[in-house]
Amino acid sequence: MSRNNITRKKCLVLAVGMAAILTGSLATAAPAPWLDRSVSPQDRVAALMRNMTKAEKLSLIESDLALEFGAYKKPAGAIGSAAYVAGIERLGIPALQISDAGLGVTNPMNVRPGDGATALPAGQAMAGAFDLALAREGGAMIGAEAKHRGFNVLLAGGVDLVRDPRGGRNFEYMGEDPILAGQVAAAEVQGVQSQHVISTIKHYAVNSYETGRMMSSLDLTIPALQESDLLAFRIAVQEGRPGSIMCAYNKVNGVYACQNPYLLSDVLRGEWGYQGFVMSDWGALSDGEAAARAGLDQDSAYILDRGTRFADAMRKMAGHPAGENILDAKTRHILTAMVVNGLFDDQARPVEGAAEIAAHMAVARRIEEEGAVLMRNERETLPLSASGMILVVGGHADKGVIAGGGSSAVLPRGGSAIVDPVQASLETMPHPIIFEPNAPVDALRAAMPGAEIVYNEGTDLAQLATLAKKAKAVVVFVTKWQGESLDAPDLDLPASDNALIETVAQANRKSIVVLETGNPVVMPWFDKVGAVLEAWYPGSAGGEAIANLLSGKAVPSGRLTTTWPRSLSDLPRPELPGAGHHAGAFPLDKSTIAYLRNYDLNKEGADVGYRWFASRAIAPAFPFGFGLSYTRFTNDGLTVSMDGKKILAHATVTNKGKVGGDEVVQIYAHAPDGAPLRLAGYGRVTLSPGESKVVDIPLSPYATARYDQAQKDWRQPAGTYRFVLARNAEDQTGPAASLHIDAQ
Ligand code: BGC
Repeated sequence: MSRNNITRKKCLVLAVGMAAILTGSLATAAPAPWLDRSVSPQDRVAALMRNMTKAEKLSLIESDLALEFGAYKKPAGAIGSAAYVAGIERLGIPALQISDAGLGVTNPMNVRPGDGATALPAGQAMAGAFDLALAREGGAMIGAEAKHRGFNVLLAGGVDLVRDPRGGRNFEYMGEDPILAGQVAAAEVQGVQSQHVISTIKHYAVNSYETGRMMSSLDLTIPALQESDLLAFRIAVQEGRPGSIMCAYNKVNGVYACQNPYLLSDVLRGEWGYQGFVMSDWGALSDGEAAARAGLDQDSAYILDRGTRFADAMRKMAGHPAGENILDAKTRHILTAMVVNGLFDDQARPVEGAAEIAAHMAVARRIEEEGAVLMRNERETLPLSASGMILVVGGHADKGVIAGGGSSAVLPRGGSAIVDPVQASLETMPHPIIFEPNAPVDALRAAMPGAEIVYNEGTDLAQLATLAKKAKAVVVFVTKWQGESLDAPDLDLPASDNALIETVAQANRKSIVVLETGNPVVMPWFDKVGAVLEAWYPGSAGGEAIANLLSGKAVPSGRLTTTWPRSLSDLPRPELPGAGHHAGAFPLDKSTIAYLRNYDLNKEGADVGYRWFASRAIAPAFPFGFGLSYTRFTNDGLTVSMDGKKILAHATVTNKGKVGGDEVVQIYAHAPDGAPLRLAGYGRVTLSPGESKVVDIPLSPYATARYDQAQKDWRQPAGTYRFVLARNAEDQTGPAASLHIDAQ
């Protein structure tokens, strides 16, 4: 063979080889159907599952704790936070990187050294803004921060109803009204998931108390459960479409929530048609097999569990065809949430720039400005005048604003403004106490350059009285820290804080109290002070927001989402044995003390919060929906009409005052059968001085419908309903309209 021939033959072989390589590479380059965005989510998941081994399916149904503690090491591949599920590389299934929580991206025990993030204000502010668009922005903000850090599951969306103003986690929740709570949680979830990050809603269900939460049962009849706590979850599920739901630590009607077939199968799948996955709370499992059968899909941080391991139970069950179907359902739920929320398609981890951080701080600030509640303003105390000496006292207002404790506490950028002497560990939860480094004092100086802002710690009352007399106004900051695993034993502020306020009130007519609390408090000095602003836990930009509200740059418009009782005897359960004690409230706490084994919630049933006060004719200290402004609004009546099957309310609202501001319009439904009122709809409207606007408010069908246990669904009874445009849940003297609604 000639040299030329050899060369030609070589070329041919090469060409064939290249073609084969090309064809081969083209063939493998065509995306697998589950990676193809043009294929429907169901088909993507089905195709993926056809290619998965049993072992691969089993690997998805439990997560590893993603923290270091003791001999336990964070798994390789975990970014570090609440939990981690390894991806399956050969199929392109991404890892699940799971982090808390509803107020921002957390960094438990500083597992990602120094990685701070933006904290939203407490849920009371988020819900108290009555502003779903803003809640969505808040969710999108924390979702974006999760994505920057590589997390694709955010344990956000706390929607347990506030049943008791002592609840340690009320600051993570959205108040006592199920319609408002469900809608706000849904909006937050939508925001998080707009960033291709799965959001949970939690803790399903009735985790309203922390005291004894690992053992207690919260008991109430099915209709009452459906018309209260489950209604909030139902709305959050149906409107927010969260990829995941976290089942709670506690029992509901005697059965642990994470192994409760009624909650996990009958209601969630059967009645609500939920397609995503259910994960357990951290250390919530006591019986893996019961949980597997009841409908749990993923066991979180399984090393914290008691009893049989969920994945072992599932592995054993999957040896039989019926069990294999159960494993398939769990796998499908997890993968559906991942596909629907874009986890396969968008694995980018964009860098967080300074401009974006500033924008995120602005979201946190606006939520606080809209959600903080002005509770008193006499003698034209607020807004502050922009000149003269203003004395600021206490609450570390020169350093920052306090945050709630526990798994939702966000480490601020640059660290806490005050370092808690109690070192954070899983055993010292809910420590550390964190102060966001956004000092009201600095912000007041910036907002009012013409004024002289003087700070005093308030430890020497005599010195304080002298100083206060010289000041044009005095602002006292008071903090009350609460956190996960601990309910407060009472509604009191420390005696020293009450004494401080009394001293200031005596010395200066223009005394202002700023409360940074996670719950209502009793205010024995209320009539003596000029003004009170409830700032809740104000979040990362809380100092600025408070300064803007005090100086009048922002006009208060937030409303209470929890009824403030006059005393504990006004509540369905005045006694709360064990409240304030940590024991038995956290998985690693091996104590077997359950102070209060069970909670009989049938006392109030579905009449939670303002409905309880209305049904018992108890006058609250401050009602649900209450909040003052620097301006005054009027309205010219209310009309309510049917629009197809939907009910719409219309009102014209006018700003009669001298400054622009927002009004929160609230419409309550009164049923013909005399059942306690319900918030039916609400809207926020911004009005310049003298301006009028027509507001159209859709009313929730759940405000007039009832749960029908026999039908396992909601039904609208026929009848004539009265709707009231009211300033709050207690004062129902506003314009009213009646509407006959047919049975549906
Ligand atoms: C809390 C959850 C949290 C989880 C992970 C639990 O203690 O109850 O809300 O998401 O820990 O940190």
